[in-house]
Amino acid sequence: MKLTVIGGGSTYTPELIDGFSRLRELLPIEELWLVDPDEHRLELVSGVSRRMFARAGHPGKIVASSDVVAGVSDADVVLLQLRIGGQAARKGDETWPHACGCIGQETTGPGGFAKALRTVPVVLEYAELVRRHAKKDAWIIDFTNPVGIVTRALLSAGHRAIGLCNVAIGFQRRFAGMLDVDWKRVQLDHVGLNHLTWVRGASVDGKDRFSELFEAHLAELASEVELPEGLLRLLGNVPSYYLRYYYAHDEVLREQLGSPTRAEEVMAIEHALLEKYADPSVDTKPEELEKRGGAYYSEAAVDLIASLRSNRGDVQVVNLLNNGRLPFLPDDHVIEVPATVDATGVHALPVDPLPDDMAGLVEHVAGYERLALDAAVHGGRDRVLRALLAHPLVGQYDRAEKLTDLLIAENAQHLAWA
Ligand code: G6P
Ligand code: MN
Ligand code: MN
Repeated sequence: MKLTVIGGGSTYTPELIDGFSRLRELLPIEELWLVDPDEHRLELVSGVSRRMFARAGHPGKIVASSDVVAGVSDADVVLLQLRIGGQAARKGDETWPHACGCIGQETTGPGGFAKALRTVPVVLEYAELVRRHAKKDAWIIDFTNPVGIVTRALLSAGHRAIGLCNVAIGFQRRFAGMLDVDWKRVQLDHVGLNHLTWVRGASVDGKDRFSELFEAHLAELASEVELPEGLLRLLGNVPSYYLRYYYAHDEVLREQLGSPTRAEEVMAIEHALLEKYADPSVDTKPEELEKRGGAYYSEAAVDLIASLRSNRGDVQVVNLLNNGRLPFLPDDHVIEVPATVDATGVHALPVDPLPDDMAGLVEHVAGYERLALDAAVHGGRDRVLRALLAHPLVGQYDRAEKLTDLLIAENAQHLAWA
């Protein structure tokens, strides 16, 4: 099997290599292509990746290339993990919305919208190359944020794509630890849109264990998602920490105004990581990688690809077409829910109805996401303005106008139409 990682020069890549090494029985990779325009990074990252494979006795060959066509040619699976504009653009996303009293975040709110605008056209371009040059039945696995919007862009253009995020496996593992069982036995009732999800149920071998877990670990769960226990109790579920940007918007904004951005923290982590990758004696995943939000995303990737290729039919949380699961959303919207995974793809399990408050927020954000994709594909100030106005964290016309001007000024070099 040939697996290609677009954005393979990312400092995250050794996370993937670690997963591919540990789980190599599940996923026999013959060729792993790391494709990236940044040749310096690519050299360091592919170097440590090869040493990691050698140490693990992984027989796969690692090829580093800046040529996307060569990279995707005859690939079986293409993983997208790119970041247009790098951490510098992310730092912008995390700061310019502050001028309008909005939180700055790389996937949520105005910053996440800017990321979508920069990213969607590039992803669609690469996906066309996959369509033309990869194996006919190749899968595109998208980790590139904002995953909901990017996955919908790919599916709308007719690509064989699945969106993936590590929030659900994070909860699955935490819950497993709390219940003292192997994580594979835990199934979540996880529902919503990417980075707008709630966990409202958990079972072990099919037996409901959620209320027990919720009662015994409420304080711990609340502190992990940095939301008040009272809120979790009121909702009767565990919102992901991305819901904090909604439920505690003003508090987050105050915190952000007094601290460095996450982009700056990540730049420092990346600096330390690259130094390690450059050291020829390093042949394992450095512990600094645990400080990244995407820790263990490799396991989600390995599990998904393994099930697609071996027809396992197990249940995993993925981003896929709604097709009536949330009846208040269009069929062609992308939602994040548990699905069975087999060789034909992903098939969402039935979803219990959402209460009005959660349904209302999901519907509101979905409306924004649709306008956001329209703006990303077709460009233009009015489309940007309309999407911003539709976002529940923006909502007011004067604010949306000001944000539109800031967004376009900050991102002009990445927007073909601006
Ligand atoms: C979580 C999210 C990812 C996101 C990451 C950010 O893992 O699910 O979608 O990219 O956090 O982590 P970072 O270390 O870049 O802040
Ligand atoms: Mn994510
Ligand atoms: Mn609303």
